[in-house]
Amino acid sequence: MNKTVYQIAVLPGDGIGVEIVPEAIKVLKQAGERYHLEFKFTEALIGGVAIDAVGKALPEETLEICRNSDAVLLGAIGGPKWDQLPAQERPEAAALLPLRKALGLFANLRPVTVYPALIGASTLKPDIIEGVDLIVFRELTGGLYFGNKARRPIESGEEAIDTLIYTTPEIERITRLAFEAARKRRKKVTSIDKANVLESSRLWRETVIRLSADYPDIELEHMYVDNCAMQLIRYPKQFDVILTENMFGDILTDEASMLTGSIGMLASASLGGQVALYEPAHGSAPDIAGQKKANPLATILSAAMMLRYSFNQESAAQAIEKAVVSVLDEKYRTGDLMEPGMKAVNMEEMGDLVAQKLV
Ligand code: IPM
Ligand code: MG
Repeated sequence: MNKTVYQIAVLPGDGIGVEIVPEAIKVLKQAGERYHLEFKFTEALIGGVAIDAVGKALPEETLEICRNSDAVLLGAIGGPKWDQLPAQERPEAAALLPLRKALGLFANLRPVTVYPALIGASTLKPDIIEGVDLIVFRELTGGLYFGNKARRPIESGEEAIDTLIYTTPEIERITRLAFEAARKRRKKVTSIDKANVLESSRLWRETVIRLSADYPDIELEHMYVDNCAMQLIRYPKQFDVILTENMFGDILTDEASMLTGSIGMLASASLGGQVALYEPAHGSAPDIAGQKKANPLATILSAAMMLRYSFNQESAAQAIEKAVVSVLDEKYRTGDLMEPGMKAVNMEEMGDLVAQKLV
């Protein structure tokens, strides 16, 4: 029998990106062995390393490799070395956002799962976070991130402008995905906006309400973003699917990651185009880069999402997730999750432990 060969574009990027991506590949290969899947990995440059190597944060060749692949695995981009560049040349603006846009990835899924073994690792009280299982659907190619920006002198200094635009179709497509996902979960969508202040939020809320007529089986709730920020640490168990726009989703997912114990646990999938992209929700962590200290689990769990969403390999995806749970149950911890009585391991050891569970 011929095996399907999945083509994966690998974009390690900057900082800890170059360290954590190989750990995820190690785990993917092992899952592939077990489930008879074959992967072909093609590495490409992105971010600061691409600026240094070829003078562009998102080289055309990288985009081509992504477009010709079945999925993209990304590490992280950016770092202090490139922070001084003009805003439009920085890795964030010149690589990550254009990549999301070019691939049409309008839906960013960030699951927030609290593993029993990590209850004590969170800064929140155990009874608040026990059993939390939510997913954020963040709109990823609109809003403030992509609206026109400008700076101009005024008498007393300068004026800075960021434009916040949302169109009906942009809101509709992410809303439908969130409702569909809720159908396979606990059937509740909480739509986040700032409709008491922002016009784009009023359109957001009207659109979500209109579409909800097609999903009578789903409970819909609306919440202002400031209240959501509060509710996430007051009573996070109330959430199943959180639906929100780009900027609110960026902020709320960093906050929500702390329910899991560390932002090093937060995986993500960006969907909507022909080729989906999988990346940890955290950044390039230049302070710990090159020291094998990073937590590779967010990237490993992102690889599991790739198996689920891009390759429809649910068993293999679950096997990776189970392997992560087992390793955590056996008390192995990277520094970000370390607690008294646990066994400290470095990034590579953590990757090995997860991979061994898949043998
Ligand atoms: C994220 C990151 C990015 C974002 C940055 C690096 C531009 O924070 O994926 O959440 O804001 O989208
Ligand atoms: Mg972010």
